Amino acid sequence: MNADDENSMKCVILNGSPKGDVSVTMQYIAYIRKKFPEHTYEILNVAHEIKTIEKDTAAWNRILEIIRSADLVLWAFPLYYLLVCAQYKRFIELVFERNAQDAFTGTYAAGLSTSIHFFDQTAHAYIHAVSDDLGMNYLGFYSAEMGDLLKEEERTRLEKFTRFLITAVEDTIPVQREIPPLVRSSLVYAPGLPGKPVSFGTKKVVILTDDDGSSPSLAAMTDRLTRTISGSAELINLHDVNIRGGCLGCCQCGYDNTCVYTDGYIEFFKTRLVPADIIILAGLVHDRYLSSAWKQFFDRSFFKGHTPGLEGKQLGFAIAGPLSQIACLKEALVAWADNGGCHAQLVTDEVPDSAKLDALLDTLTLRLVRDAEAGYIPPRTFYAVGSHKIFRDSIYGGMRMAFQADYRYYQEHGCSISRRLT
Ligand SMILES: Cc1cc2nc3c(=O)[nH]c(=O)nc-3n(C[C@H](O)[C@H](O)[C@H](O)COP(=O)(O)O)c2cc1C
Repeated sequence: MNADDENSMKCVILNGSPKGDVSVTMQYIAYIRKKFPEHTYEILNVAHEIKTIEKDTAAWNRILEIIRSADLVLWAFPLYYLLVCAQYKRFIELVFERNAQDAFTGTYAAGLSTSIHFFDQTAHAYIHAVSDDLGMNYLGFYSAEMGDLLKEEERTRLEKFTRFLITAVEDTIPVQREIPPLVRSSLVYAPGLPGKPVSFGTKKVVILTDDDGSSPSLAAMTDRLTRTISGSAELINLHDVNIRGGCLGCCQCGYDNTCVYTDGYIEFFKTRLVPADIIILAGLVHDRYLSSAWKQFFDRSFFKGHTPGLEGKQLGFAIAGPLSQIACLKEALVAWADNGGCHAQLVTDEVPDSAKLDALLDTLTLRLVRDAEAGYIPPRTFYAVGSHKIFRDSIYGGMRMAFQADYRYYQEHGCSISRRLT
């Protein structure tokens, strides 16, 4: 045990809420502290403070020192778009970018989230994989519905989980790594001569990338796509869009879909993405997801609440990196599309040679335009049908006050997120 009293465990809580101390998730931590006062707790508001952490080396080093002193690291976070929020994602990226993994290695870890149980499993699979990649001893997770703390039965359940964590640390139980390390392809994609250009007619295409110059394969993939499209394809780099920061979770947009940020995100979303028939999302795998820039893009679309923002579009995902080894990422992308009433098709650079990737990208382009012309959107799967029922119950139930715009939308659309789901 690292704490001064040999019977006392030191638990470091990595708070993944952009709200900082006033987060709902932190109420669960407050409850744990109250019930187990013999242990010490230190909360690090890494999501709320991410801008300082990025810039201030002393603050960064302080955080690492505290993590090094922990017997248990608790990843405590709210669900944001099937994962953690972009700010937390950025913190995790920094750990790998700055080679700070050793501060975590060998320490016990667990996840604790609050949410409405919409894709909590993908978020916890992500945190589990990150913990394994950091060489931590991952003990499991606790996924609370955000109102659970108000129920005695759930408080008792949380106590039982916490007791298990404490005992596991005290007994120094052995833990098996469950998620194998990623194996990255050695292919550096070099496109061949462009194939026959595909005419997109009047269909409007947007290729959205987060290319920051670090991946030759990603740049080559977007280049191939752009050159194959004959017609108007707009290439937009997320780094060129004026986005000031990640979603703050304030939920002020719930009233009338107006975001507190006055940057360029909403105009970009409404004037460049909404009019498109086809959107190709190009990105590089960072740790066990895409970049935090992509995550910020997804999070900020929350200004639309629980109503569809890009419904009916053909989506192509062009991913550089080992997507096939990251089940939770693939699931998150496909489910996001399905839930939004879109049609998703994916291509990655996990192929033996460049000629194969040329062929796959050309075929993707062709299929996107054909499906757009045919107006083909596949029937929704469990991802969208199940999510719809969760949202509907929440909007008509406990979230009704905060999400009035959703409520009005659901009423106007006969209790349905989409007319096609009634
Ligand atoms: C931008 C945004 C995205 C969210 N995405 C999800 C989600 O994917 N799944 C879910 O169950 N809840 C989602 N939620 C709900 C939060 O996870 C939930 O309200 C949580 O309890 C907030 O915790 P906090 O106060 O600690 O930040 C989202 C909330 C926001 C603001």
